[in-house]
Amino acid sequence: MTEIIRIDPINPETGRLARAAEVIKDGGTVAFPTETVYGLGANGFDANACSRIFEIKGRPADNPLILHIAAASWLNRVANGVDRRTLDLVEKVWPGPITLVLKRNNDVPDIVTAGLKTAAIRCPAHRIALGLIEQSGVPIAAPSANLSTKPSTTKFEHVLQDLDGKVDVIIDGGDATFGVESTIIDMTVNPPTLLRPGAFTVEEIERYLGMIKVPKTINQSLKSDDVAIAPGMKYRHYAPDKKLVLANDDTLLHAAAELAVGLKDPIAILCSKQKANALMNGVKLRNISLIVLGSDDNLYEVARNLFDGFRALDATGAKLGIIQKFDEKGIGLAIMNRVYKAAGGSSVGTFSELKELLN
Ligand code: TXA
Ligand code: MG
Repeated sequence: MTEIIRIDPINPETGRLARAAEVIKDGGTVAFPTETVYGLGANGFDANACSRIFEIKGRPADNPLILHIAAASWLNRVANGVDRRTLDLVEKVWPGPITLVLKRNNDVPDIVTAGLKTAAIRCPAHRIALGLIEQSGVPIAAPSANLSTKPSTTKFEHVLQDLDGKVDVIIDGGDATFGVESTIIDMTVNPPTLLRPGAFTVEEIERYLGMIKVPKTINQSLKSDDVAIAPGMKYRHYAPDKKLVLANDDTLLHAAAELAVGLKDPIAILCSKQKANALMNGVKLRNISLIVLGSDDNLYEVARNLFDGFRALDATGAKLGIIQKFDEKGIGLAIMNRVYKAAGGSSVGTFSELKELLN
């Protein structure tokens, strides 16, 4: 049985948080909102509790978890030899959607870090998440609260869809703010290196840290084959059940809309409102499900709707979805990272490729 606890994200009810914290302290599992996506949490010092996370998600054991702490002052409970550069950074960016890979200490069980000598640590900017960690009194290990390979969960309803009956508690705390996961930076190397683009943009991080290393492969490799950077990045991820294909050129969206008319099964197009308007300009779309992700002028809006859009694709009668490209700047880098992963390398670049795909 899963207990649902509804909590106000702005003014979390202390008693309700306390109930969820009891479950964490007792070795149970609690799905909770953060500013990025919902997490599936357990006591980060309790190896048994953390093993339930892997079981519930169907997550490979070599994919380590992120430890969530309530304040930078908790760093020495999980990390070793934290340097001045890191302390200065966290003072400015935490709580916030930025995860740091640091040397871990021996209190962190091996299962959390998949045996690595480092741990990924973050302090989330969300009152429910922070309140839950504080009241539990322990770091909370939490991956995103989706089943392994599925799109991440940005709404309570998504969590219910994936985890009802599997976890002890799901907190209903409204929608996640950013909708894409935290940015992961490896601080154990010089210069600090981006492992996963996320809600905290590289441009912002560099204001605090100076130049960081952004591996050329960070999104490049995902376009076709998979070269892993963070351990978890090598797995197919974030993926809808239906096939998702990236249109390398916007004109192919128009071509797809025309070709759809002659198809047996409908197709879905995932795009901005500007592109949707252009597609509907003067024509009546037939055999198409339009999934509007937000505005080309506000990629934060697109990020917030992206995973919901992937889940919406699965709910349509469409045979497959075609998604537009977004500019890989700012939060766009994280958006396209998730799109490449969800598409698993499939894209169309020419009209004949599109025809072949749809036939
Ligand atoms: O926004 C987020 O980060 C969300 C919320 C719930 O906090 N969490 C999240 O967790 O996205 P998850 O498990 O879906 O992704 C964690 C990523 C994986 O790619 C994993 O391989 C990487 O972090 N990771 C964890 N520990 C690591 C380590 N020691 N070194 C390198 N990568 C690590
Ligand atoms: Mg995940």
